[in-house]
Amino acid sequence: MTATLNFTQVQTRPILMIPGPTELPWPVIQALNQPPAIQYDRSFDEGVLEPTTKALRDVFQTRNEVILLPGSGRTALEAGALSVIERGDRVLVVGAGQFGLLMREIMNRVGADWTEFPVELGARLDLDRLAREAERLRPKAITLVHNETSTGATYPAAEVGKIARSVGALFMLDTVSSIAGIDVRTDEWGVDLNMTGSQKCLAAPLGLSLVSVSPRAWEAMEQRKIKAHSYAYDLLRWKEWWVPVSRGGSVPDGAPRRQPVSMPTHLTAAMRVAAELILQEGLEARFRRHALSGGALRAGVKAMGLEMFPDASIASNTVGCIRAPRNVEPAAVVQLMRERYGVLIGTGLDKLRTTTLRIGTMGITASPQYVLPALSALELALRDLGYKAQPGAGVAAAQAAFAEGI
Ligand SMILES: Cc1ncc(COP(=O)(O)O)c(C=O)c1O
Repeated sequence: MTATLNFTQVQTRPILMIPGPTELPWPVIQALNQPPAIQYDRSFDEGVLEPTTKALRDVFQTRNEVILLPGSGRTALEAGALSVIERGDRVLVVGAGQFGLLMREIMNRVGADWTEFPVELGARLDLDRLAREAERLRPKAITLVHNETSTGATYPAAEVGKIARSVGALFMLDTVSSIAGIDVRTDEWGVDLNMTGSQKCLAAPLGLSLVSVSPRAWEAMEQRKIKAHSYAYDLLRWKEWWVPVSRGGSVPDGAPRRQPVSMPTHLTAAMRVAAELILQEGLEARFRRHALSGGALRAGVKAMGLEMFPDASIASNTVGCIRAPRNVEPAAVVQLMRERYGVLIGTGLDKLRTTTLRIGTMGITASPQYVLPALSALELALRDLGYKAQPGAGVAAAQAAFAEGI
């Protein structure tokens, strides 16, 4: 009997092609390699935190404040929700997958009187119906997941922003898997709270949550009847302790500022480098690179005889959600790709766990250097599991797409 070859014997870790956390650019990794800084020193506030948030404003395409917090994407969602929503406030939650449900759960915890606007998994959003529902409910806030990571679908945030504005609702947008990979125009779209995490297309380490806050959102916080039920994550404290008077906050210009929650210094330093790399590349080029990579991934998948899960018109450029071939267990594909071919992808989530696979094209992995080996490993693993596709067909189609698009 021939022994099974092990191609990953000397590899210490798989390449991360999951939809986040994603691979890090080398300068970002290097930024982590420093002795501890003192988070309450002016040198850190002025030399690291402030320039980071300023660079992030350009990434967010906003003139408003971008607040950093220790945490992850869901911390940003929760901080946004608990800061503006009071018990009994009406909230309309667009639910098109697992992360819409997460927002609903968070709204539940903060005591919102929420109504879900359900969208079939992977299907388009009916904007007319949403507008009618918003008109009927007149909610204090409307929430949307821009890029639903569980189904690989991107939703029309600009249009939902218009609906929110037309009924005087705050627009709360989850951009966890889109910011810095797909165009997110915070100010132009009227996003009041743009909530995201560091570990996806921003290509920074996991551990920071980011929220941009519009003047309307600050106003909603200031007009609360009762203070937010959180000390560390009440965003209003940033306005009172951190934001200078010249930018609408309470701290006299030039006076020392205080962080309402102690900032993780290494992660902030890494975030600063990540944001600078994004701005050096340029937002337009970065979005095009993600679009090309997402398209190449889809072309490769199609050439292998497989189908994407969501409606083609809303297929995401940062998360490819693929229907697994019949009789092939997604978990077995993931395990084999990781153990035998050294590439980690994800299964679907929840209801889609046993029928779909997910591949991230985020940050530096949105390139031929990562997409082609991922498709190659997928082809090999599927063949090992009995799915017959022509060897190299997926890689060839993706490579052709890259060649045409560059
Ligand atoms: C769209 C979306 N929202 C929220 C989250 C939660 O973020 P985190 O896992 O960083 O808390 C995720 C994570 O994958 C996500 O993709």
